[in-house]
This record gives sequence, C-alpha cells and structure tokens, in this order.
Amino acid sequence: MKRVLYLYTFLLLICLKGVECLTNLQISTVGHAVLGLSDLELRCSYNPETGDDIYSIDISAELNGQYRTIVAFYPENRRKDGTLRMDGNYLNGRVTMNNPNQSSNVAVLIFNQTECIDETMYKCRVTYDSNIGTQIQESNATAIYVEGSPTFPDSVPSYIPLAGIEEGMSVVFTCTGNVGKPMGKFRWIVYRRNANGISIQESLYDNVTTTGLEMPGTCTFNGTSQLTLQVESLDNNAVVRCQVVYQDVPQGNLYKQTNMINVYYSVRNVTVTKSHLHDTFGPGRTTLTCTSDGNPAVRNEDYKWYKMSQQYTVIGTGSQLITNATVGESDVYICVAQNSYNGKTFSSNSSIQIKIGKTLNS
Ligand SMILES: *[C@@H]1O[C@H](CO)[C@@H](O)[C@H](O)[C@H]1NC(C)=O
Ligand SMILES: *[C@@H]1O[C@H](CO)[C@@H](O)[C@H](O)[C@H]1NC(C)=O
Ligand SMILES: *[C@@H]1O[C@H](CO)[C@@H](O)[C@H](O)[C@H]1NC(C)=O
Ligand SMILES: *[C@@H]1O[C@H](CO)[C@@H](O)[C@H](O)[C@H]1NC(C)=O
Ligand SMILES: *[C@@H]1O[C@H](CO)[C@@H](O)[C@H](O)[C@H]1NC(C)=O
Ligand SMILES: *[C@@H]1O[C@H](CO)[C@@H](O)[C@H](O)[C@H]1NC(C)=O
Ligand SMILES: *[C@@H]1O[C@H](CO)[C@@H](O)[C@H](O)[C@H]1NC(C)=O
Ligand SMILES: *[C@@H]1O[C@H](CO)[C@@H](O)[C@H](O)[C@H]1NC(C)=O
Repeated sequence: MKRVLYLYTFLLLICLKGVECLTNLQISTVGHAVLGLSDLELRCSYNPETGDDIYSIDISAELNGQYRTIVAFYPENRRKDGTLRMDGNYLNGRVTMNNPNQSSNVAVLIFNQTECIDETMYKCRVTYDSNIGTQIQESNATAIYVEGSPTFPDSVPSYIPLAGIEEGMSVVFTCTGNVGKPMGKFRWIVYRRNANGISIQESLYDNVTTTGLEMPGTCTFNGTSQLTLQVESLDNNAVVRCQVVYQDVPQGNLYKQTNMINVYYSVRNVTVTKSHLHDTFGPGRTTLTCTSDGNPAVRNEDYKWYKMSQQYTVIGTGSQLITNATVGESDVYICVAQNSYNGKTFSSNSSIQIKIGKTLNS
C-alpha cells in the first residue's frame, strides 16, 4: 500500500512536469440511485495518449472508511471481461460491467438494483504502461447518494381516546410509516363535515413534527407524527388525514384517513316554532315544534314542555306540543331539551310567548 502511494505521488510529479499522460480521468454517475430497481450507472472515462498500454481500469469504493477496489475493467485488447473483485462481491447479481471499447473509452458499472450500501464515495484508477514506465492515475471521488421512495402510511391514523370523545377534549392522532430517504414527513389535514358527510371546512397542519428512525435492514426512515387536536362540536363527523410529504412535495395519494370522528357535545340552539305565523291568534289548536342541536341528538322523549304560569309541571313530552288554548290562556311556553353522554346530562331551553285573543287582528 505504502509503495503504491509513493509510486502514485512520484508519477503525479512526472505528469505535472509536462510528460504526456493519460488525461481527463473522471468518474461520474448517470441516472438515479433509487432503492430497488434503478437506472444508475457509474462511468469512468479517460483520454489515453497514443502509446499508452492500459492494463486495467478499477473502480474503488469507500467501505468502512477505506477505499477498496470493487470492480476491474479491461480494454478490448486484453480480452477479459470486467470482473467483480473480492471486495466487490456484495454487488454480485445486481450489476453489469461494460468494458471500454474502441469507440468509447468509458468503463460502465450498471446497477440494476441499488442498495443502501451503495451510498458511498467512488474513485476510478487506471493502470497503464507509457513510454516512461508503469503509471497509475486516480480520479477525484464521486458520491452516490441513495434515495428511497416513501410508501403509504402504515394504517389509518389511530387516535386516543378511541371512544367517548367529547367537545373540549384533546385527541392525539398518530401516523407512522415509511417516509422515504431523504427523510420526508407527514402533514395533517382535518376535513370538517356536515351531517350529510359533505366537507364544509378543511384545515392544514403542515408544521407538526415528524420524527424518524432508520428502518432495520434498510436506510429509509419510519416516520412518526402526532397531531393533537382540541376538538369542538364542529369536529363531529370530521375526517383526519395523514399524508406523506417527500422532498417537500405532498405525495398525492400517499395518505390514510380516519373514518368520521364522533364528537359528543351538549344540546344547544334549542328553537321553538309554532304553526301560526303571528304570535296572536284565536282559540283552538296550535302546534309548537322544538328543535335542537346536540350529539347524541336529543331523543323525542327528552323534549319536555312547560308553561311559565305553572313552572315545574310538565305539560307535554316530545318535540311537538299541541296546545288547545282558550281565550285568556296567553302564556310563555318553554321547551327543555336534554342529551347525555359519558355519564353526564345536559339541557338547554327556549321559550315562546303565545297570546290568545278573540280575533287574529287584535
Ligand atoms: C441487468 O439488467 C439488464 C437489462 O435489464 C440485463 O440484461 C442484465 O442481465 C441485468 N444484470 C444483472 C446482473 O442482473
Ligand atoms: C462501447 O462502449 C459503449 C459504452 O459502454 C457502449 O455504449 C457501446 O455500445 C460499445 N460499443 C461496442 C461496439 O461494443
Ligand atoms: C479534482 O479535485 C481538485 C481539488 O478539488 C480540483 O482542483 C480538480 O479540478 C478536480 N479535477 C477534476 C478532473 O475534476
Ligand atoms: C414504524 O414504527 C412503528 C412503531 O413505532 C411500527 O408499528 C411500524 O410497523 C413501523 N413501520 C414500518 C413501515 O416499518
Ligand atoms: C402550525 O400551524 C398552525 C395552523 O396553520 C398554526 O396555528 C400554528 O401556529 C403553527 N405552529 C407553528 C409552531 O408554526
Ligand atoms: C340554530 O338552529 C336554527 C334552526 O335549526 C338554525 O337556522 C341556526 O343556524 C342554528 N344556529 C346555530 C348557531 O347553530
Ligand atoms: C279544545 O278545547 C275546547 C274547549 O275547551 C274543547 O271543546 C275541545 O274538545 C278541545 N279539543 C281538544 C282536541 O282537546
Ligand atoms: C332555561 O334555561 C335557563 C338558563 O340556562 C335556566 O336558568 C332555566 O332554569 C331553564 N328553564 C327550565 C324550565 O329548564
């Protein structure tokens, strides 16, 4: 090793002095080093001087901190196929070697498949006899950076708590999966939906941290991201999506999303309407209707009716109340609606004033 280094330095000096040497020795990559099937080529090119008798063109790779010759190519006149050297045995079965030929002074190492180990530095060395003796020239190094494509998130986002979610709670959604190499990330989108499942609002959370761990046996990253949402009533029926962002580009279909999330919320917006347009009408039947918003929805039997004049006496049950008022019975009617979840009961009310006169136009 020492001897070769010494020889190399010595020869370099001679070359610099203007003696004609093989020139333009370069190593470069063509194509993409993507894990799995690839179209990656490592090309070593040079311009020999007439009279140079090339013995071999070797490619070395930096493995465990040292450059080791992995493959040797031969010019046409040597009648030898390019071969893997012992230190290059790990390439067996997934590379093809194209020797240089008369029309092109390029040795080509074609990677049919790229693996994590291929990510390192490479140099090319040409050994040749010239009119001043055996010479060795080495190229500058070039790097192969291996990329790994991300895949779908492992599953639909999981969330905690899984059930009994109520407004005001913090819900933690978790997404994991292969975010590729270089390490990508997840972004989150929350789609709020109305009761018919139609999206009414979407919120993007693209600054949530994704942590990554190199997956065993490969160099791509298993990312984990957690979104914490303090849910509101409007989040009932929402769908939470986790999507892969790779090399800063959101990956269209690489997402998984939850089913509609059930968010319990207390009854609210109790509204009473009556079948007559005016609040004054003659004696007889009139129908009062009570509606409300809440999850779970208020059951019919959980609507109760009262009259202001006789509070605490239930005068009817159900979302509709048929009154049979007589003259002088003007009163304020109150509808109380109630729902329950997680062992708690909530109620809300609304009232309407009804005046019974002798004529409609009093
Ligand atoms: C690489 O792929 C080429 C073309 O697909 C094929 O001809 C060659 O045999 C393959 N070499 C190896 C080592 O798999
Ligand atoms: C010479 O080598 C080049 C580069 O590998 C290749 O494209 C070309 O087909 C070869 N020509 C012959 C005649 O083998
Ligand atoms: C090799 O690297 C040296 C130092 O970085 C640079 O000066 C030189 O131009 C490079 N040679 C080639 C052929 O790229
Ligand atoms: C990522 O890690 C999680 C555990 O943290 C594991 O459940 C999951 O299977 C891993 N995903 C991949 C693609 O390795
Ligand atoms: C993250 O994004 C959300 C929504 O766009 C924003 O409200 C929040 O302030 C951002 N947080 C940081 C740390 O940038
Ligand atoms: C309350 O309910 C009424 C009738 O259903 C509806 O028009 C109104 O938009 C609701 N208000 C709120 C704040 O939900
Ligand atoms: C409504 O009240 C009137 C007078 O009190 C009575 O004649 C009638 O039968 C009542 N109707 C109903 C449906 O209760
Ligand atoms: C109606 O709601 C008000 C305010 O929440 C409350 O003070 C009142 O007791 C309720 N009335 C009934 C009949 O439930």
